[in-house]
Amino acid sequence: MKDINILAIETSCDETSVAVVKNGRSILSNIISSQIEIHQKYGGVVPEIASRKHIENINIIIDKALKESGKKFNNLDAIAVTYGPGLVGALLVGINSAKALAFSLKKPLIGVNHIEGHISSNYLSHKNLKPPFISLIVSGGHTHLVIVEDYGKYKILGRTRDDAAGEAFDKIARSMNLGYPGGPIIDKISKEGNKKAIDFPRAYLEEESFDFSFSGLKSAVLNYINNSNQKNQPVNIPDLAASFQEAIVEVLVKKTLKAAEKYKINEIVLAGGVASNTRLRELFLEKLDNKKLFYPDKELCMDNAAMIGSAAYYKYIKNDFSDYKLNAVPNLDLTSL
Ligand code: KG4
Ligand code: ZN
Repeated sequence: MKDINILAIETSCDETSVAVVKNGRSILSNIISSQIEIHQKYGGVVPEIASRKHIENINIIIDKALKESGKKFNNLDAIAVTYGPGLVGALLVGINSAKALAFSLKKPLIGVNHIEGHISSNYLSHKNLKPPFISLIVSGGHTHLVIVEDYGKYKILGRTRDDAAGEAFDKIARSMNLGYPGGPIIDKISKEGNKKAIDFPRAYLEEESFDFSFSGLKSAVLNYINNSNQKNQPVNIPDLAASFQEAIVEVLVKKTLKAAEKYKINEIVLAGGVASNTRLRELFLEKLDNKKLFYPDKELCMDNAAMIGSAAYYKYIKNDFSDYKLNAVPNLDLTSL
C-alpha cells in the first residue's frame, strides 16, 4: 500500500507546531515553537498574544517542518489541523493556514479534535498499540477518562467537573509563587518533600462515578497557606507540593484502575501534559497488577502537531474529510467525534 504523508498543524494554545507524519505512526518532522517565555511574565497564556505570535510564526514553522521531513508539498496526501478545543483566535490561525494549503495544493483537509490528538500521541511512541484501551487524558485544559473502543470511537467514562488536572497544578504553583507552568515545577520540588506531610482531601465523588473534581483540593491547599501565613508559620514548600501532588495523583490512578477492572480492559494509556508527571507514572506502576501502562515520549505529552497527524491518518483511511466550512470550536468535546 502507498505511504500516506500528512502535514499537520496545531495552534490551539501557546505552541505553534507543524509536523509531517507517515502512515499515522512515523514522525518525519515535528517542529514545536513554544511561546512559554512570552506568557510566563503574565503567569498564564494571554489569548491575544498567543494568536499574534501564531500568525508571525506559522509560515516559518510550516517551511521548517516540510524541509526537515525531506518531503515536498506535492508528496503530501492531506493537510490536517486542530479545530478545537482551544483558544478561538489561536485555533483560527492554524485552520486558515491549513485551508489555504489544502486549497492551493488540491489536497484533502482533515479537522482533528485536540483531545483525540493527545490520545493518538501514543500511537507514535508505541508502534504496536491498538484499541481497545482505557485512556486517561490529563492536560492543562482537559481531564477525561475514556474507553478508546476503536480508532476515532470513544466512550466517555468521566471528566472533570471543575478544574483540569494540569490547571490545578498551575494554580497551586502560582499560589506558592513557584512560576508557570506549575506542573513540572511541582513535580521537581516534590521529590525533596514528604508526600504524607499534609493530609489533603481526595475527592472520589459518588461511588460509581468516574468524574473528577479538584476545586476542593485547591481550596484546601489555599486555606493551608493562608492559615500558616496568619500564624506566621513558615510553609515547607517541598512537603506542601508533594502532599498536594499525591492527593491529585492518587485519585487519578485509583479511578483509572477501577475503570480498567470494571470494563475488563488491561491496557492503560496516559496522555496530555500531566502524563509526564513522575509520581503519576510511579504510582500507576506500583498499583498496576497484571495491567500494562503506556505513555507518550516526553516531547509528545505536550501540545505538538505530530499527534494531530497521527489522529488524522485514521480519519484519512476512512475518507473522513472536512470541507472549507471548517471552523474553530473552542469547547469541542470528544463525544462530538
Ligand atoms: O497537554 P499540554 O501541553 O497542554 C494542554 O493541552 O493543556 O499540558 C500542559 C499542562 C500544564 O498545566 C502543565 O502544568 C502540565 O501539563 N504539566 C505537568 C507536568 N508537565 C506538564 N503537570 C504535572 N507534572 C508534570 N511533570
Ligand atoms: Zn493539549
